[in-house]
Amino acid sequence: MRSMADRFDDSLRKKISDRLSFYDDLGIRLFYTTRQSALVESSAAFAATSASESSAEVSSPSVHQPVRYEDSPLPKAMPKTKSLKPDVPAPVPATAPPAARTTAYMMPPTKSPAPASVSRRMPASAPPVAAKSNPLPTPSGPSLFEAVNKIAGDTLLKIRDDLGDCKRCKLHQTRTNIVFADGNPKAELVFVGEGPGHDEDVQGLPFVGRAGKLLTQMIEAMGLQRQDVYICNVVKCRPPENRTPEKDEVDACSPFLYRQIESIKPRLICCLGAPAVRTVLGIKEGITKIRGQFYNFGSTKALATVHPAYILRNPREEKILREDFEKIRDFLKGA
Ligand code: URA
Repeated sequence: MRSMADRFDDSLRKKISDRLSFYDDLGIRLFYTTRQSALVESSAAFAATSASESSAEVSSPSVHQPVRYEDSPLPKAMPKTKSLKPDVPAPVPATAPPAARTTAYMMPPTKSPAPASVSRRMPASAPPVAAKSNPLPTPSGPSLFEAVNKIAGDTLLKIRDDLGDCKRCKLHQTRTNIVFADGNPKAELVFVGEGPGHDEDVQGLPFVGRAGKLLTQMIEAMGLQRQDVYICNVVKCRPPENRTPEKDEVDACSPFLYRQIESIKPRLICCLGAPAVRTVLGIKEGITKIRGQFYNFGSTKALATVHPAYILRNPREEKILREDFEKIRDFLKGA
């Protein structure tokens, strides 16, 4: 029996061959031969985080409209994906961080070495390596680490005590509860979000709404539990309508955030979204430009990624968060 290709006449054969060469020239031939399976895979991945739905409001101030999000089964392990090519210059090569402070973390086995894009950056105040050819975003002001005086012998208890029934900014007028933090005071990993949303305001705990569920899923996909990490926000009271915290509110609240970080001394701070990046790192550049990169701040590292609420609004971008969390996992694992 003649194959399908045998039945094509010469002119059709030539047309197909020319078209494939054209795709080769564009470097997308593989895409044309494999996109079917890729689509199936990516649909399955999204299904894992967006099947059942609820209509509660996303608590991120940057998300004002209600979105729908499911309670999905937790991913059991972070799939190994190719690292994103950073859109900033070649990173400073990573060196393995010191061994984990605790052994509580159960990282899923890593088959391959850390992605090439796991990198260490120079401190915010120092010019980055290779900045000449394609400059990195430059921090626009002092980071919290530089701006706030350290308090010797500070503890989380004392910080909470000092915060008291805070009325330092106007957010106190509309809050239900102060949302101080949640998690392990000896955590190696600290997450900094933007500010409490509705659910957090009601419960007095950070990241307990739908964005929080996604964050928790991502944490667990790294092989950690929520109680292994420390979770806090730039501001501790919910901004009305989940709006972005204003400068005076950030100025009043951020010293407490800094003291929390300084007291915990984590190995890594993960800034979730632009306000956290601006506050902690002093970097004003768009999150998509600087995400996934490691910055040095004294003996602590910081990495910026997108806010989980952004992924709730743009589920197709979930890969970004996964990739950045893989970097976090590899960093903590010392890969
Ligand atoms: N978004 C945040 O930035 N923080 C929270 O605590 C919850 C949602």
